[in-house]
Order: sequence, then structure tokens, then C-alpha cells
Amino acid sequence: MTRPCAVRHGRALPGRTAVDKRPIIEPFRIHTVQAIAMPSRDVREEALRRSHYNLFGLRAGEVTIDLLTDSGTGAMSTRQWAGMMLGDESYAGSSSFFRFEEVVRDLTGFSEVIPTHQGRAAEKILFATLVDDGQVVLNNNHFDTTRANVEYRGAEARDLVAAEGNDPALVAPFKGDMDIDALRSSLEADGDRVPLVMVTVTNNAGGGQPVSMANLRAVRELCDEYSVPFFLDACRFAENAWFIKTREEDYADMTPKQIAQEMFSLADGCTMSAKKDGLANIGGFLALNDERVASECRNLLILTEGFPTYGGLAGYDLEAIAQGLIEVLDEDYLRYRTRSVEYLAEKVLPGASRSCSHPAVTPYSWTPGRCCPTFHRRSTRPIRWLSSSIVRAGSAESNWGPWLSAYRRRMVPTSQPPWSWCAWPFPAACTPRATSTTWPRWCSTWLPERDRWADTASSSRRPG
Ligand SMILES: Cc1ncc(COP(=O)(O)O)c(C=O)c1O
Repeated sequence: MTRPCAVRHGRALPGRTAVDKRPIIEPFRIHTVQAIAMPSRDVREEALRRSHYNLFGLRAGEVTIDLLTDSGTGAMSTRQWAGMMLGDESYAGSSSFFRFEEVVRDLTGFSEVIPTHQGRAAEKILFATLVDDGQVVLNNNHFDTTRANVEYRGAEARDLVAAEGNDPALVAPFKGDMDIDALRSSLEADGDRVPLVMVTVTNNAGGGQPVSMANLRAVRELCDEYSVPFFLDACRFAENAWFIKTREEDYADMTPKQIAQEMFSLADGCTMSAKKDGLANIGGFLALNDERVASECRNLLILTEGFPTYGGLAGYDLEAIAQGLIEVLDEDYLRYRTRSVEYLAEKVLPGASRSCSHPAVTPYSWTPGRCCPTFHRRSTRPIRWLSSSIVRAGSAESNWGPWLSAYRRRMVPTSQPPWSWCAWPFPAACTPRATSTTWPRWCSTWLPERDRWADTASSSRRPG
């Protein structure tokens, strides 16, 4: 069945049929259970005070539903766990590496595959190899660690997301697209200072919005014209492929894998955090075609990560990632993933924030506060909204805020409350993959209550 493209509030994207609002059955059965905390109100309030209302300061045992991040928080499948038992821990040439390499090559088409312990390690190694002081890296939106790694090299991290991506209230299919005119202008003006162009799929720092194939193709053409390498930040390549399948002309009959392969074929390489669409709890990789660059990257890899056939990971991690990269492209899984987040957003957003109409319904996050005028700087409302003791979420700029700000200003201790370092304290709720069957329903009934609570007159300002 081809489901129509769905956007919250039952509105369909232009040219698409109305949204199917039925709930969806999870395409999996629960195999193992893990208890979660159900703390009393007193305990929750005390935990909030102790953490200075900084949700990063809460302990996992104080949170019932954790929407802080989708990174590494998902449940693994039986086949991934089984794969882990096959892990080969040989220091060099482990068979787990060769399985991993084969899967990554088959998916991406890139010949050089370099495992890393996380996505940021891949970024660090790539930028240390390609980026120099005074250069400019162009991206739709740099994720925080990507920006930090670019700036750490003394270069400028320039965001060129299309105007649509900056309008939270706009309903549009591909709000993660790069602004092609702005890209041309930047290449024209600074071409000799641009060591690479990146596109982040989906565009995490822009609310997890997808990027169209047409846009990737246009970026490729410009990179060819100006002879600049083009890399994908591919953390959520499968979710992006699903959006292309369901939203872009001509892709409805292709499999997510075929679409992902086409996306990768347009680039010269990618960085990847396997903690997202690798469906693993840890891991990442750098993959590319340029043998010379790859060889320099491997030298750095040895310095900080490990030997090129394990790169900071155990053999069993490589097995889990290899299997995850296969399973993440399953259509039933991607349909469930998208639909469960849409369901939550449909139920929560209308009541959650009356002045908010952000339609960022992506498989990974929805950002209820971005456009909400009452969520102004130094207001504790978003924090209170989310930290209403049970649900924890990140905030648009706070995900890596403490670290990044501390790096930039070299002064802010992470123990300070979020409003001291968070420029835009808008909540971004990230949904873990395949961890619970009932949380969307649960959150959909409770989060609107939280909104009322956060709205009470005495709570709209920073507590003393
Ligand atoms: C788009 C994007 N790029 C890079 C990273 C960094 O990956 P990692 O957390 O594995 O270092 C993340 C993590 O959230 C991300 O979302």
C-alpha cells in the first residue's frame, strides 16, 4: 500500500491526498523488557531543583519518557544481538570488519570505509584532513559537533538552508534543502576557500527536515562546476530516503535502499553516526572514494581511534551496525517510525502550544517551541513544559550547547542552568527508535496537560 504523504493536523502536502490518521501497528514484537522509572511528584520536583532545571542534569532514573535524543537510545533487534555473538575481536583484519565494510560499500558505493566510535570522530578526522584555517565549509545546517569540528580547525561553518527551512510554520515537503542560489553565491565568492560542501540528511539542526533528491542533484552539479568535493552527513539517510519515497515525484516505486543508494551516488563521501540510522547504541564511520584522502584519514584514525579495521569499536559493535544498516531500510519499520511520530505531533502540538504551529513532523524530532513567541530567551517555560517531571527532551540549541558554548566562550561551566548558555531554548523532542509501543499514546495525553501547567502565571519566568 502506498500511504499518502502526511503532515500534521491532517493537512496533506501540495499535490497529495488527505492524511490517513489511523494508528499503526509496530512491525515488531517485544522480546525483552527494561524497567523504567516512575518517580513520585516530590522526587521529580527535587530532581528538577537539584539540576537547576537543566534537563541534562537529570539522572536517567528520574525520567520516565526520555526524549532527549534519538542518538544511540534505540532498542536493537534480535538479529543485531545475535550478530554481536559473532563478533570477532581480532585486533587486525577481524571478520566483523569485513562484514561491516561489505554492507557499507553495498549501501553507499564508497570504496574506502573507515569505522569510528561515533559520528563526530568521523567529522574530526575528515576536517583535520581537508579543512584549514580561514576556509569555509558550506552545509544546509551544521549539526553542533560538525560546526564545532569545523570551527576548531579555524574555518567558518556557513549554513545555507533554503528559506523554507527557516520558517517553522510553513508546511513544505523538503525544508532541509540547501539554498542553491546561496550555494552558488558562496562558491562564486569564496570558491577557492571552500574545501568541501556538506548536506545533512535529514537536517537535524533545522528540525530534522528532509532533503530532496532534486536538491542533492543540484548541489552535486554546482560542486562539479566549482570542483569542490561533496559530502553527506548521513546520520538519518534511511529516514530521508523514506521522505523522498513518499514526497518526491518519481520515487514512489523505488525501495528505500535504492533511493539511499542514489543519494550516496551523488556524493564523494559521507560521515555517519551509526547511533541513528545504524540502529546501534554506538559507532560511526567515514566513507569516501578518494584513496589518498582516505589514507591520510586512516593515519589520524590510528592516532585517536584505533587500527583501521576496528576504529574505536569492538568487533561486536561492527556486527550490530552492519545488521542495523540493513534493517533500517525495511519499509514497515520506516512507515511505523514516521507514523508514530506524526501521531504524537498530531495529538500534542495543537494543544501543547497554542501559539506554536511548527509542522516539523519528522521521524526523529518535532520541535514544538521554535516559533512560539512565548518561548523567549530566559523564559523557563519550555524547560518547565518539558521537565514537568516525567518527560525529558533536548532543546533546539541545547543538545550540545554546554560543550559548544564552553568551547566558543571558553568559560561556561556545564553546571549552570540552561538559560545561561542556550541562545534559543526551544524544546526539541527526539524520539528513540523502537523502544516502546505506548509512549506516543501516553505522551499525547499528558503533554497538553504539561502545557497548561507551564502556562500558569507564576511559572512563566525563571524561578528564584
Ligand atoms: C546530523 C548529525 N551529525 C553528526 C552527529 C554526531 O554524531 P555522534 O553523536 O555519533 O558523534 C549527530 C548526532 O546527533 C547528528 O545528528
